[in-house]
Formats: sequence, structure tokens, C-alpha cells
Amino acid sequence: DLQTSAHPGVALARDYRTPDGQPDPLSAPDQPRIGMPLSRLDGPRKVTGNARFAAEFALEGMVYAALAYSTIARGRIALLDTTATEAAPGVVLVMTHENVPPLQSPPVFLTTAKGAAGDDHPVLQNDRVHWNGQPIAVVLAETQEQADHAVTLLQVEYVQEPAMTDFDSAETREPSNVLGGPASVTIGHAERAFEDAPCRVDAIYRTPRHNHNAIEPHAVTLAWQGDELILHDGSQCVDHVAYSLAQVFGIDESQVHVTSPFVGGGFGSKTLWQHQILAAAAARLADRPVRMALSREGVYRVVGGRACTEQRVAIGADEKGHFQALIHTGKAAMTAHNNLPEPFTQATKCLYGADHIQLAIRVADLDMLANTFMRAPGESVGTFALESAIDELAEQLGIDPLELRRRNEPERDPTSGLPFSSRHLLEASRAGAERFGWARRSVRPGARHEGEWQIGLGCATATYPYMRMPGAAARITLSRHGPVRIDVAAHEMGMGTATVQTQVAAARLGVPIERVQFNYGDSSLAGVVLAGGSQQTAAIGGAVIAAHRALVEALLELVGSDSPLAGLSSDDIECREGGLGVPGDASRFETYERILDRAGHSEVLVEADAAESEELSHFSMHSFGTIFCEAAVSTITGEVRVRRLLGAFDCGRILNAKTATSQFRGGMIMGLGLALMEETQFDTRNGRIMNPSLAEYHVPVQMDVPEIEVMWTDIPDPHTPMGARGIGEIGITGVGAAVANAVYNACGRRVRELPITLDKLL
Ligand code: MOS
Repeated sequence: DLQTSAHPGVALARDYRTPDGQPDPLSAPDQPRIGMPLSRLDGPRKVTGNARFAAEFALEGMVYAALAYSTIARGRIALLDTTATEAAPGVVLVMTHENVPPLQSPPVFLTTAKGAAGDDHPVLQNDRVHWNGQPIAVVLAETQEQADHAVTLLQVEYVQEPAMTDFDSAETREPSNVLGGPASVTIGHAERAFEDAPCRVDAIYRTPRHNHNAIEPHAVTLAWQGDELILHDGSQCVDHVAYSLAQVFGIDESQVHVTSPFVGGGFGSKTLWQHQILAAAAARLADRPVRMALSREGVYRVVGGRACTEQRVAIGADEKGHFQALIHTGKAAMTAHNNLPEPFTQATKCLYGADHIQLAIRVADLDMLANTFMRAPGESVGTFALESAIDELAEQLGIDPLELRRRNEPERDPTSGLPFSSRHLLEASRAGAERFGWARRSVRPGARHEGEWQIGLGCATATYPYMRMPGAAARITLSRHGPVRIDVAAHEMGMGTATVQTQVAAARLGVPIERVQFNYGDSSLAGVVLAGGSQQTAAIGGAVIAAHRALVEALLELVGSDSPLAGLSSDDIECREGGLGVPGDASRFETYERILDRAGHSEVLVEADAAESEELSHFSMHSFGTIFCEAAVSTITGEVRVRRLLGAFDCGRILNAKTATSQFRGGMIMGLGLALMEETQFDTRNGRIMNPSLAEYHVPVQMDVPEIEVMWTDIPDPHTPMGARGIGEIGITGVGAAVANAVYNACGRRVRELPITLDKLL
């Protein structure tokens, strides 16, 4: 089912050449092409209701779960009367800290090998309450409605203890772990250089808490079969969840089997939280399969979101705009029970050359649900601060904001000193500016009106690092008849992974797309892959490349002396037209079928680990882009309408123009929410989230989203598998500042606190 509708993005396409200048064999015209806009292979199943999500598995004898949540931030449960709940119709089990089986503390996400848990609190093991919203009881009943009703009948009394729930007054400390490097970077004497600089901007920027609102709320359907736990989970880390649950229940990892064939969005939140652990514990006690589907409110109570930040950006420059000092410091909220400080200085580490640099992150421990990563943790809110400050400096200097950035484009990574693997930010930015009509921007704020609306243009740099975590592996099964199966324990959360990997594998093996079957979303499959850090595509790519090489070698071992391939090595061979052959030599070719026939094999099976990600120790590897925004601000209501958005990206080679466009657009729309709407309202008096619903937590809806154009350089990164870098997260970065800068250009008001709501413009 191969569609080739013109993709809606505007690519600055060029032919891919390998690093030594050869045309890329994967782009040969008679093959499924890398980059072509293949439509989503899972699309028909999703739109016809044939895709089964975690809460749609129906198991024999299954019961339904509801959770009770604490209403205090810290203290203990003095009384938990379950009498009325137990007597309610349909109730099968009420599980509290008094009858829960013993459970080990779960290993924490990204801080222990294969840890998947949001925090390391023991789950329901005692009467302690650690956050407002913590699960304090599980009710199982014959129907969801019965469980939801019975849980309301619980009688709870607490002994409250003093809780720290105020970010502004909490003490701060240095975090022990920051994703992507140390919490602090000091190059030279930034404070002194800043004081001496002739032109200076020094401002504080604030960003609020955010919650993930995946279309599919978190859910799990699970059953114990003897000592084996089978889960259907919405997951972006099936192996991590299997490993972590095994730790919690004191069983072997091989006794936990996680499947996750379809996931309705994750954005960093579909890991391991208390609901899966509680569902598994309750299923064991009740000896029944359990479905636990969190309500939207339940997601806010149980699944951590993005932490709030307060950031200082100070830039000192000479009159020509050269950065003499770049300071980016501040604090983020966290808890003592997780270890994911919002890494808001990440983008600042690689974006601009400056003579002196000072970066530091501190954290304030609060009594709240552990925060976690949400799309582009760090960069999304860090670029709001940094890229707003650059706009402020550009205005002060009287230099065009794009030109100011260009003047500070570094030759090497300014903090690591490493060369960039591939950096074409200026090309992307130039092309984007031309397409967007940046030259028509008025330098003076407030100069352009249309009726009650003031119109402005703004831009900001986007960036996200390239990552490739260890552990990826792939298995290829090539059979004489039937599909070529590629098995990887990977994830399809809606981003197009299954489609893109099928396309790449078909091109690589020289077979039609219809013949490739990409199996994923199952912890029993090969390797360990995290769908996070925008690294899954490269991680799978590295594994499939290794498995493909093993496959060619295995096939060559099977060819007999009478084969046209006799005596050849894998270096002499290409995969084409359903077989192996010498490039450019039609006589030296044999189909896979014939090789297998001749050897009397029905199939060949290979499995290989991806090569180690050595590229990361030699190069500074990042994706880049420039976001352009046109905003209108109402002089009457203060309302902001974003009228146009354009993203011009440099993300290496684009593997599928259509799914990539959707990824970029989706990220930019989430950035629009970050800029204008999204804010988790946190009651500082009692640590309770006040708006746990999509009625009160606003995300952009169709009518909020303007025309969005996406373009890319399509310049392959010579140091990544397939030339691709990740594209899942960069789209959200830079958008907050591009909108804020456009708002400033429209009306002359500088908003340094997200979201930019109308009250801040009146
Ligand atoms: Mo992403 S926040 O690494 O899922």
C-alpha cells in the first residue's frame, strides 16, 4: 500500500552521497526509496478501529480497577475504613497498605540500568503519604462503573505533616545527575566579562509545570499466569518496564512479558508509574486479570509532568554583537525521589560561541509527584529563555536577530570543544527566512496594524541532541516464501516508526515494502530500545544495519560452488531485486529464494547487536533549526493569535518526508501550547494540581493552529547510521521564544513568563 502523494513539507532536497562521494545505494530509483513520503502502514487499522490499545485487551475473567488518591501532600494515613467500599455491588478486592503484598522499591527511570519508574518510593507499603494525589487504595470490581463508585465510599483520615510545596521559597541544591552532562559548565570568567561588556541583557524567565496529555491515557491490562506476569501496556520502553516490574516483584526479568503494539502518544510519560505496579499486585491478590485505565485526572495524579523552572540568562556583547559572556543559570523543581532535573541549559551548551560561559542548574526539592521528562526536556523551556534574551540583545544592539545569531555561530562545540558531526543551521535558517518573508519584518515594535490587531514577526533557534543508547539489537528472518521479518523491541507511539523502519528495511534488503514485516512493541523481541531522547530511529537503524550485514554473510555461506555468487565476500555484494548481486553485473546475481532452495533451507535467521555508539565520543552531535512566527495581538483583549509558523530544520537525512513533516508539525503545535496555553495549576498551599483535565489544562485545538510550514536541509550526517538524526523532539524547541519574540515585535511587550496569556499583555 504505497502512496506517493506530494509531501506537504518544503524540502531543500539534494541527492544523498555517502561520505566518500558515492551515490547512495539505498536511494537507487528502482528501489523503495529512503525519504519518500510513504503513508502510515498502521493508519488503516487505526482509523477502522482495528488497532488494539492497552485498555482494549479483554482477558478471561478480568476485573476493573479504580484508584483512590491522597488529598494531602505529606503525612500519614491515620484511618482507612473500607467497610462501605467492600460492601458495594460488584467489588472483588479493596487493596490498601494493610493488605498489599510486599513489593520492592522500583528502579528509577534513566538513573539505573533499564529502570523505568518515575520515583523510588515503595508502592503502598506503609501509611506514608508523599504527594497530594498519591494512590492510597485500589478497588477491583466486576465493572469499571462499580469500581469507580465503590472507591468513592472509602473513609480516610490523615495526620498531616508540614510539606514544602512552594517553588519560590524552597531551598535549592546541586543535582547529582543531569541528562547530557554536568550540572555546571564554567569557561573563563563569565560574570566578570559580563560586567565589562558594553552591551548587556540580564533577565529572569519563568516557565510553569506542564503535564503530558497523550490522546490515550495511561492504561494496562494484565494477568498472572503462575509466576509469570503478562502485561498489555501503553509503553515507550517495554524492556525497561519488564525489568523494573521484575525487580518490584522479586522475579526474573524473563517472567515478565510486556506487549505494546499501539500507543496513543507518550512524550516521555509512558514509562512505569504506580498504576502498573498496583494493578499487578491487585491481580495477584485477587487472582484475576486486571484492567487499570487511568482517568484523565488519574494521569495528573499518578504520572509526573514537566517541572517548573526559573532561569537567568545574561549576555554581554561588544557593539558588533559578538558574545563576550553567556550566562544561563537557574533552578527547577524536583523531588528527592527521582533524579531528572529539567536540563534547561542543554541548548546553551552547543548553540553559540562566547568568550566566557557559565551554565548551572540547581533543583528545589518539593513534596510533590516526581516530575519526569516531557518532549525536549530542557531544550523546550531553556530555548524560551535563551532565545528570548538574544532577541532582547538584538533590539538593544540594533542588529537583526538572525544576523546576531549568525555572528555567534561557533566553529566547534563551545563547551565540549568537539567538532560538530554535521551542522547546517545557517543554511536552514537562511532558506526559512526567505520562504517566510523575514525581510518584511518591521524593526520597530508595534509598527504593523490590521484593525484591532497588532502584527509582529519573531524567530528563534531550535535544537535537540542526537543520541543513540546502547542495547539495541535486531533479528532478521528471511524465509523462502512469505515475509522478511524484522524483530526489534521498539515502539510505535504514533510517530511513524513502524512505517519508516519497514521502508528502510525494504530499501536495504532490496525487496518490496509489502514483503517486509516489522515486529515491535514486545519485550520478548531482540534488544533494548527506548523510544525517548529522539533516538529510537537511529538506535534501530544501527541494529538493523548490523543484522543486515550478518544476513548477507549468512547467505554467502550458503551459496554453492555453482552459484554466480560463488567466492564473493559481503564487500562485493549489494542487495537488490529480492536477492544478492555484484553491483552493475546482471550475470552475477541470485535471488534469496534460489540461494535458500539450493541450500535446502526454508529460512535464514540472524540476530545482531548494534555497533557501539562511538560517534558520540568524537563529535558534538545535534539537530538544529530556526522557527519563524507571525503573531497578532489584540489591542482590545490582549489575545494572541499565531497566524503563521515555519520551521526550517537541519536534522540529517529525512527518512520519510510525510511522517517527518507530521513529527515536526506535532512538535511545533506542542510548542504553541507551551507558548500560549499550557500550565499545570499547582496549589502552593497543599501541593494539589488544580486543573487535572483537558477542560482546564489548555492545549491547542484545531482552531488555534495556524498554517505550519516545514522544511529541511536533508543533509545526511556522515556519522550516524543512515545519516539520520532524531526528529521527535526538536519541533517543540524554539517555538516558545519565536512566539514571545513575535509578540514583542507586534506590540512592544516583552513577556518573560510562560504561558503568554492575555492578562500579561493588558
Ligand atoms: Mo522523550 S521526553 O525523551 O519521550
